[in-house]
Amino acid sequence: MARSTLIRSKFQRAGRLSATGLTSILVLSAALTGCAGVETEAPAELTPATVDTATIHPEIWPVVETPPLDPEIEARIDDILSKLTVEQKVGQVIQGDSGSLTAEDVKQYRLGSVLSGGNSAPGPLPYADAQTWLDAADAYFAASIDPEGVEIAVPIIWGIDAVHGHANLTGAVVYPHNIGLGAANDPDLIEAIARATAHDLKVSGHDWTFAPTLAVPQNDRWGRTYEGFSESPDIVASYGDRIVYGLQGRVGEDGFLGVDTVISSAKHYVGDGGTENGIDQGDAKISEEELRDIHAAGYVTAVGAGAQTVMASFSAWQGTRMHGHKPLLTDVLKGQMNFNGFIVGDWNGHGLIPGCTNTDCPQALNAGLDMYMAPDSWRGLWHSTLAHVQSGEIPMERLDDAVRRILRVKLAYGVFEKDLPSQRAYAGDVESLGSDERRALAREAVRKSLVLLKNNDAALPADPSANILVVGDGANSIAKASGGWTLSWQGRDNPNESFPNGQTILDGIQDAVTASGGAVTFDPTGLEDSDADIVIAVYGEDPYAEFQGDVANVDFVPNAFDPATLTAHRARGATVISVFLSGRPLWTNPEINASDAFIAAWLPGSEGGGIADMLFRTNPDTEFTGRLSYSWPKLATQAELNVGDDDYDPLFPFGYGLTYTEDAALETLPEDSGLAPGATAQKGVFFSRGEAPDPWTLAAGPNRVDQLPFGSADLQISALNKDAQEDSLRIDFLSGAESFSLTSSYAHDFSRESNGAMELAFSAKVINGDGNVQVGMGCESDDATPCMATVPVTIGGDWSEVRVTLSCFAGRGVSMDSLQDALILNGEAGQSFGLSDVRIEQDADAIPNCGDA
Ligand code: BGC
Ligand code: BGC
Repeated sequence: MARSTLIRSKFQRAGRLSATGLTSILVLSAALTGCAGVETEAPAELTPATVDTATIHPEIWPVVETPPLDPEIEARIDDILSKLTVEQKVGQVIQGDSGSLTAEDVKQYRLGSVLSGGNSAPGPLPYADAQTWLDAADAYFAASIDPEGVEIAVPIIWGIDAVHGHANLTGAVVYPHNIGLGAANDPDLIEAIARATAHDLKVSGHDWTFAPTLAVPQNDRWGRTYEGFSESPDIVASYGDRIVYGLQGRVGEDGFLGVDTVISSAKHYVGDGGTENGIDQGDAKISEEELRDIHAAGYVTAVGAGAQTVMASFSAWQGTRMHGHKPLLTDVLKGQMNFNGFIVGDWNGHGLIPGCTNTDCPQALNAGLDMYMAPDSWRGLWHSTLAHVQSGEIPMERLDDAVRRILRVKLAYGVFEKDLPSQRAYAGDVESLGSDERRALAREAVRKSLVLLKNNDAALPADPSANILVVGDGANSIAKASGGWTLSWQGRDNPNESFPNGQTILDGIQDAVTASGGAVTFDPTGLEDSDADIVIAVYGEDPYAEFQGDVANVDFVPNAFDPATLTAHRARGATVISVFLSGRPLWTNPEINASDAFIAAWLPGSEGGGIADMLFRTNPDTEFTGRLSYSWPKLATQAELNVGDDDYDPLFPFGYGLTYTEDAALETLPEDSGLAPGATAQKGVFFSRGEAPDPWTLAAGPNRVDQLPFGSADLQISALNKDAQEDSLRIDFLSGAESFSLTSSYAHDFSRESNGAMELAFSAKVINGDGNVQVGMGCESDDATPCMATVPVTIGGDWSEVRVTLSCFAGRGVSMDSLQDALILNGEAGQSFGLSDVRIEQDADAIPNCGDA
């Protein structure tokens, strides 16, 4: 959507070459933060003659005053560097994932860091308790400081995504995701949450969190919208420094990077929230000014506050991947913005650079990346990087500079002086995780993050002494209220018991109502007869993370709970209150119409009681103070809807939010979503409910099959019943000469899915013959050199799930960025199979399978 060149909104969007706009945004960030160390000066302007749309001009970027270098630390770095072998230096610039790395590996390769990705907790569960984490932390740390065979050993630092509290650790309080904290617009609160999170990370022996996310999402189709505080760079900038202070302490004050703190990582630099169509890991095709003024706003304050690390974004700017973008990494961030810490990569993000693979990428280091995040690729990357240093392709000065930066952070954090993680301050202090103080802080954050969008006839505050019915699939699920990055990567299916210090929204309501003499009935479906005076409905999006949350539009598609049931309750005279859980603003006109009151609750986390506080106004002094930090759409097509747009036309504008007493009766809203029929097809579904959804089709050998039953001398395909009539296929291989496939007439990019460790999954059973079959995928090719690979799979006699990790096909030569055959089955003469539900997905518990296990 076109952006205004004029200053006409609540905050400045200098999307064009406007000197006034640029100066005022920088001054505004400084005024909002009002802190030392974050001073910026208005940079020079570009003259139209110098404008080249794909070239970076460092001189127009803000100059940031960062903490001065400490001469003592610099001297120690010189000393350590002189004692490290080149092999050790290469190890320092590589970070492996705990799921693919032993303590012995850390010692042998002298790796600089260990991370635990969203699904990489030690132990059998999708999450671990403090002791399990500490045992692993001790093992890795001890291995890193083992002096055997080296003149000096460099201790590791361990990183993890504590992005809304230390939500990977069972028992830790889960705070609202950033979208809710943005609505709270309370920088003091954010600093307090960051401080508490740092403490919780110490409990489990972690040193480093991959937070804050400073994305400024401009298109709410993006699956990471909720990780950003706001569509407004002002709110993001006003939090950028405060969250870093909370995590790391304040530069120049006692306790900076001291025992109460962890290392922070501002991410994902830069433009992650500005990609075209909101595609995760996509391309931000925007001007340099927009990149700077909107997407870099948070880095100005966070880097000024001394953020020790910055994570490079998977995404590209104007076609160039950020991991290989020398002007933005080196000239802008380290040069103009004076960033002295180190730049860490994102999950195999270097492998996306043209010419690179996950295990070989000198381009990234040469562009200015200092530490590769090489979860499962660290070993191959170590060998290739060493070879590139030896050949001179990676200059020794560049390697030394990267190691120098890593050592600078490690020395500032004092890790050379630290004991084993289990012996440090707060380690194992699990009592504190669920302390009254912690829970009260999270509950306050929940109260402040709620935005009241409708409150007709003063439906709120609700009367807690009434007869109350609670409905909806979100009421009794902490996982649903917490969203992605909670105990597991996608955050789905974690039972309430795995949140021992949490409370569901239902429990919070029950507490308040019981205390006031009312009664609560719970009916998740809302379908049972009821005479309750008040119906509280808690529903919304199911959890997702990263690209798995990308959607085609901002229509709310109900899942387990059907909000249409609310209409019946309303018709019989009940007051209906909706508590809507979501990671982004969604088109919900039908749901709003079906409700007397409607609260945008975002992803509030594990303190469900905070919702009850506001529903019943249990404390008469509380008020709804949450205000939209993202514009709310009037149509499901308005995914790219940002305050300051030329044709800005939201349902509820940026900054909107009612108080209890505001008189703002909302009329019935139109219920035409604006979407074309069929606009909701899901990526990664190839066969479902008896059909191959467009653009996928069935094929026998090279021929497309449009009609069933199909028969040739080689292959027969017919419909089969599994869970419903004709929801599946029966495939009979007659000659074994032709394969069955699900194919498309054009190529599809599944590289993100492959990089994200997702699987090709389907249900199958054997009908005739043995169950051994070749399962394959294929990519776009000319006939001379077909592009496909298969892996052997054994299918059983009853319907069961088959999963093959996408990277198996990638590893066998299938270009996942141009996939054309989503599934190939090669059977032998006489074999018959049932086939159903073919899709790409990830099961956190599934063991990676290349068919060779
Ligand atoms: C995400 C990062 C995260 C990293 C480690 C990546 O896929 O983009 O935000 O910090 O994984 O889990
Ligand atoms: C990891 C995440 C990571 C993602 C990358 C997952 O398997 O658990 O931490 O961010 O892959 O796409």
